[in-house]
Amino acid sequence: CGIVGYIGNNDAKEILLRGLEKLEYRGYDSAGIAVLNEDGVHVFKEKGRIANLRESVDLGVEASVGIGHTRWATHGVPSKVNSHPHQSSTERFTLVHNGVIENYEQVKKQYISGVELLSETDTEVIVQLVEHFVKEGMEVEEAFRRTLSELKGSYAIGLIDNENPETIYVGKNKSPLLVGKGEGFNVIASDAMAMLSQTDQYVELMDKEIVIVTRDSYTIKTLDGEVVERAPYTAELDASDIEKGTYPHFMLKEIDEQPFVMRNIINQYQNENGDLKLDDDIRAAMKGADRVYIIACGTSYHAGLVGKQLIESIANIPVESHIASEFVYNMPLLSEKPLFIFISQSGETADSRAVLVEIKRLGHKALTITNVPGSTLSREADYTLNLYAGPEIAVASTKAYTAQIAVLAILAVDSARAKGIELDFNPLQELAIVANAMEVFCDQKEEMEQIAREFLAVTRNAFFIGRAADFYVCLEAALKLKEISYIQAEGFAGGELKHGTIALIEDGTPVIALATQEHVNLSIRGNVKEVAARGAYTCVISMDGLQEEGDRIVLPKIHPYLTPLVSVLPMQLISYYAALHRDCDVDKPRNLAKSVTVE
Ligand code: G6P
Repeated sequence: CGIVGYIGNNDAKEILLRGLEKLEYRGYDSAGIAVLNEDGVHVFKEKGRIANLRESVDLGVEASVGIGHTRWATHGVPSKVNSHPHQSSTERFTLVHNGVIENYEQVKKQYISGVELLSETDTEVIVQLVEHFVKEGMEVEEAFRRTLSELKGSYAIGLIDNENPETIYVGKNKSPLLVGKGEGFNVIASDAMAMLSQTDQYVELMDKEIVIVTRDSYTIKTLDGEVVERAPYTAELDASDIEKGTYPHFMLKEIDEQPFVMRNIINQYQNENGDLKLDDDIRAAMKGADRVYIIACGTSYHAGLVGKQLIESIANIPVESHIASEFVYNMPLLSEKPLFIFISQSGETADSRAVLVEIKRLGHKALTITNVPGSTLSREADYTLNLYAGPEIAVASTKAYTAQIAVLAILAVDSARAKGIELDFNPLQELAIVANAMEVFCDQKEEMEQIAREFLAVTRNAFFIGRAADFYVCLEAALKLKEISYIQAEGFAGGELKHGTIALIEDGTPVIALATQEHVNLSIRGNVKEVAARGAYTCVISMDGLQEEGDRIVLPKIHPYLTPLVSVLPMQLISYYAALHRDCDVDKPRNLAKSVTVE
């Protein structure tokens, strides 16, 4: 979910709606805004996209204070009644919330059992609780602080009071939230991107802090009421980076940006002499670790699998890659000197953060690899490596995945050098070759479109098979296809097929095989024959030097360590065109959100 707020002298409705449009990547099941003027509060909410909400907003209502929300449902189905803002029974208080309140049932029982709730959400409990404490005689600010101290879980909250159009009350715990400072106005937003058109000055908030925001001031306090001083920082984002330009979809734009991202990474991680440039502290942490634990979710987890292979084979450090939501409840026995690497495009994923909090509690060090400097995971880890991929807007991640792998390769080489390992591999040079290969490939989209039409236009399912690094790319390929085309897709290790999966192969089942790994080329070719013999409709994507007759695509040759950077490209494009042919919403697939800030 994402939240925004504005208090100033301009039309709040338009500023809130535009802000929500920029946050739609965080959830788009339903959306709403509430604005406040001398007549009181006006709430508009709708199921579905911000565009629906826009149509329902009464343009005649003039107001210069308001809050807004775009929702990714957790408690309660996506519906108008469950969408935010939520109001207290007397409608005096109106609130938007991102996060999950774990003890809402208990709070409900303890304090507001007599209050009739309208929605099924955990959020409504918060706003009712504020009203409850105010009715008990507390000042609004005190009631707000008291309410937050009762809550367990995560929240980013914006609250307005019908009787006071001069203030927005803000609270944060675990969920991301920033206050943006302007001249004669102030804003709040889950992400600086949402309000970049208003201001580039943002104030970071820590967990369990509240902020009293007025037109020309912001006062940060702890839940005990102690004032905290904090100056704003300048958000270094270019608003034009977030535009689609002439592209029909962000996903296609982001796929095409990958060669530039590779070059950007080369520039950012290179010193004047053309050598690798990395923080000494990170080098020391890698050198001192007896085992690296990579923690991530979704696509970032798939990049972590490739990263494991890179760090082990280049830097000779044992690595385990884990899914964050599993690791946190099922922690393996840790080595004596572990180093944790968190990979996250957004730097906000709650599952990953839960692990970070736990391992910090245990006293371990953490490095975050992220596309968003200043994000929660970056701030709370000991070290950060940036991806420099530019804002990624499409829900299905593409350029962040390749950027993650490129940065992991650089990290692996830097660590190897620190350990005195002689290498015959210059990552900056090899990444430049990758960038060129990507560029050539991005110019040949027709074949990908053709494959998508031929193999995936009507199918119910699809399989991706590969071995070694190709297997990891197959997992990512299947995720891409699932996410945006809703085809049931699975990635399998070629050798494992015969142990179960091959039973799924029927006449015409599409099987896309990757064959870019020399040492397993013969074996994967054997697997392709096995499925073809059982009726599969096969498509082989191989690499220059390993091709055989009949291969559908032959990728340009690149260094064996870096093959995933290029072999994932046809997979991204095939998924894109498959979704397009099936009339799916490419950039905003159903049920998903780009940044999942709830566990
Ligand atoms: C969400 C997105 C995925 C993404 C995952 C991890 O589920 O839909 O595309 O891979 O979160 O996100 P992160 O920002 O931590 O890389």
